[in-house]
Amino acid sequence: IPKNLERDDEEYVSLISSLPSDIDFVGRELFKYQESWYGNKMLQAILNFQRGFEPQDTDIIIASFPKAGTTWLKALTVGVTRPVALLERSKHSSDAHPLRLDNPHNLVPFFELDLYAKSSKPDMTNFSSTPRVFATHVPLHTLQEALKNSSCKIVYVWRNVKDVLVSYWYFKSALMKVEAERSLLESMFESFCRGVSYGGPFWEHVLSYWRGSLEDSKNVLFLKYEDLKTEPRVQLKRLAKFLDCPFTVEEEENGSVEEILELCSLRNLKNLEINKIGITSRGVDHKNFFRKGEVGDSKNYLTPEMEKRIDMITEDKFGGSGLKF
Ligand code: A3P
Repeated sequence: IPKNLERDDEEYVSLISSLPSDIDFVGRELFKYQESWYGNKMLQAILNFQRGFEPQDTDIIIASFPKAGTTWLKALTVGVTRPVALLERSKHSSDAHPLRLDNPHNLVPFFELDLYAKSSKPDMTNFSSTPRVFATHVPLHTLQEALKNSSCKIVYVWRNVKDVLVSYWYFKSALMKVEAERSLLESMFESFCRGVSYGGPFWEHVLSYWRGSLEDSKNVLFLKYEDLKTEPRVQLKRLAKFLDCPFTVEEEENGSVEEILELCSLRNLKNLEINKIGITSRGVDHKNFFRKGEVGDSKNYLTPEMEKRIDMITEDKFGGSGLKF
């Protein structure tokens, strides 16, 4: 049981001892809470968040499974919600756009990884202007418990599970400061297929938001990484409209859509000084969030057997849901 528990110790001990537990790909103990798997510290942060978060109806929440395109969606959301004029101005003066000065993860913190990691009443003074933009990797039912029926806007991004897995493998290896070894990919693959990884199972995570978007399309937007790649203009306009800040005709004509896309492009963000040398408040090198951003890159790493097995699970879980996969 972690030190410095803010929750009543006994309550937490009794909760955690009542939960199913399992071991992930690095031998870490995970607990199953509300159908998803988390490590001890994360679980405590989620409980802090569910208990302490005070939502505002204007809040925007970026949700995703890790490595599905969170960084990009954070950047795009900052891009469309900060006045577009700021982009214009920053071209002509030293008054730079926030995305040129900081990594999207510092601009849009995660509830369970950042804000509520240590306390159910974190300091929110940095969020004095509206809309407040937050992020999470928890599934919709767990998030909704914290939102307490307020009408926040939730934007979810998902991605082909095979690319998510390979991206995760590279990211984990970078965090551990080791080369991406095949043995790690193989054990991650097993954990993934069993669903026992942070926030997993992947498929149930996606389905929670997919169903949420069907039930409440005004408050839950469901985006796909691959669609953002193939039709970025259409998807960015969809995002802006959903967030109640649609592009005006004038903005469309003067190229604001393209400018935001360019500012948020992998190439541009990756080459910014702040993303080459910076470190997030959690201690992750900014550069680790930017790799290739290619669709289908997993083909280069997964064996045909691995692909077949994961395709069968996807078919089994998503078939009949109406989700195009
Ligand atoms: P790859 O590892 O396949 O390259 P997340 O942001 O959820 O952690 O996901 C990381 C993945 O998104 C990585 O994928 C990364 O390269 C890609 N990515 C990061 N920023 C991006 C951007 N601005 N545009 C497109 N893809 C981006």
